[in-house]
Amino acid sequence: MPGSQERATIRDITLAPQGQKKIDWVAHHMPVLNQLRREFEEKLPFVGKKVTICLHLEAKTAYLAKTIQAGGAEVTVVASNPLSTQDDVVAALVQGGIRAHAWHGATAEEYHKHLQLALDFEPDYLIDDGGDLVSTIHRERRELLAKVKGGAEETTTGILRLRAMDRDDELGFPMIAVNDADCKYLFDNRYGTGQSVWDGIMRTTNLVVAGKTVVVAGYGWCGKGVAMRAKGLGARVIVTEINPIKANEAWMDGFEVSPMLDAARKGDVFVTVTGNKDVITAEHFPVMKPGAILCNAGHFDVEVNGVELARLAVTRREVRPNIEEFVLADGRQIYLLAEGRLVNLAAGDGHPAEVMDMTFALQALSLRYLVEHTGDLGNHVYSVPTEIDRRVAKLRLASLGLSIDSLSEDQEKYLAAWHA
Ligand code: ADE
Repeated sequence: MPGSQERATIRDITLAPQGQKKIDWVAHHMPVLNQLRREFEEKLPFVGKKVTICLHLEAKTAYLAKTIQAGGAEVTVVASNPLSTQDDVVAALVQGGIRAHAWHGATAEEYHKHLQLALDFEPDYLIDDGGDLVSTIHRERRELLAKVKGGAEETTTGILRLRAMDRDDELGFPMIAVNDADCKYLFDNRYGTGQSVWDGIMRTTNLVVAGKTVVVAGYGWCGKGVAMRAKGLGARVIVTEINPIKANEAWMDGFEVSPMLDAARKGDVFVTVTGNKDVITAEHFPVMKPGAILCNAGHFDVEVNGVELARLAVTRREVRPNIEEFVLADGRQIYLLAEGRLVNLAAGDGHPAEVMDMTFALQALSLRYLVEHTGDLGNHVYSVPTEIDRRVAKLRLASLGLSIDSLSEDQEKYLAAWHA
């Protein structure tokens, strides 16, 4: 039974050395965050501030938490998904003086309880991924609206929720939309998701991708990455979309485009990345090929309708870790990976460290911006300031040993002129 400690509600503190090794490995591959860590250690921008971080609790996130701690903050971490928490990493954070309330495989009640404990900490600032922390404050812990001075959100799904709150004048503090920064979605959503989803699928199934028909639902930046990497691995790719512009983009990128009902008959592997619910449902399972593999890379486990799949199935069983087999009445098997939760995090380690380096540098700098501008911002959703986005891009180039050209004065004048 997981143990509860004063500053921590975690599985097992003795796992800390193993978790520390994972953190040390990624830290070595996160040079941008290392640079910020050095700056924070010198300037201590977060002294006296309490920060609650609600993210996927794996090693890269742990290094973000350590970087913010190095800037003088008191930090609490809590999971943004019950299956992505790595218990050894969380134990290492607790060993290093960070509060944590999370364990892998938390039930819905435990997950909710952990969020409450993380809020008992009464944060001044927060970082959220998917919007559960912000939503819990606004629905259940409204007394904290007077305490929280701002936050930053990691994902498309979280930002959709925040924009809806902003539109209804319900947002109680400023939030920065980290997902929408160029240095986030162009790299994390595209290259990060593109790689980590296939890493998750391949390590879980141990099957070949080449020659398979892969159906990618959704052609946003994440879907683009998943489709691109599927093609690179030798798959035939079908994209499904509801947006005619993105469907045209997918077609001209060389993919087949069709409605899900047609794609459902052809696919060997399905990856949902839409951010919406009921993308694959009882309408689709009965026409799928025997052995079809289904997984999700959208934030919530609502894209593949697992309840309807279970209703149609005559038997279900785990056939390998993270693979559940559902047998339909006619004998066809359908396999669902990682309970339909984010396959790259629930059945993998999330995005590569170099990609999360840029994302988490944006988070760290956005947090510092919020601290420096406390009281100046209204209760709305804000973009990451362009200077921060460009700084992260420059630091990343520098870490790669790359330099680029700059405009001459004459060129700047030319670009600014409207006459010939
Ligand atoms: N690691 C930590 N947070 C992550 C995220 N949002 N996506 C992928 N990997 C992650």
